[in-house]
Amino acid sequence: MFVVMSDIKRVLFVCLGNICRSPSAEAVMKKMLADRKLDLKIDSAGMIAFHAGDPADSRMKRHAVLRHYDLTSISRPFLDSDFVDFDLIIGMDDANVSDLKARASSEADLSKISKMTDYCSRFDNDEVPDPYYGGSDGFELVLDLLEDACTGLLDQIS
Ligand code: 4NP
Repeated sequence: MFVVMSDIKRVLFVCLGNICRSPSAEAVMKKMLADRKLDLKIDSAGMIAFHAGDPADSRMKRHAVLRHYDLTSISRPFLDSDFVDFDLIIGMDDANVSDLKARASSEADLSKISKMTDYCSRFDNDEVPDPYYGGSDGFELVLDLLEDACTGLLDQIS
């Protein structure tokens, strides 16, 4: 079973805490869609519920706003019902992808899962690294990778 990219209408970005990488992916994608006057359902979630109810990390927000991305999402955990509610579920790193695969209950669920860096063309990184315990460079790298990946993803969808 495989996903037809031109049929994608609902995309969920997933990281560990849903306060750094996936809220940024959500904001980057929403801005690119608005710039292209396209309308898709975009959301983000975390594999752990530790930060549920929290706004995005203030360091991540600070870096994102310098590139005109507004991080407004509130952290929520990934739900099994997300396999029904989204056409494409994109993890930021290998651990996210394997955790998502462990939650899948059908071949159809599995076919919806991919990794963010699969859509990159400028960068050859194979993960969007967790910036939480690092410095400024890590947050900038996250945004660089997300801009590259969202551009590639949008090209495939539209
Ligand atoms: P994120 O970053 O997965 O990009 O939101 C993290 C945020 C929090 C933690 C880990 C990663 N944490 O362990 O609390």
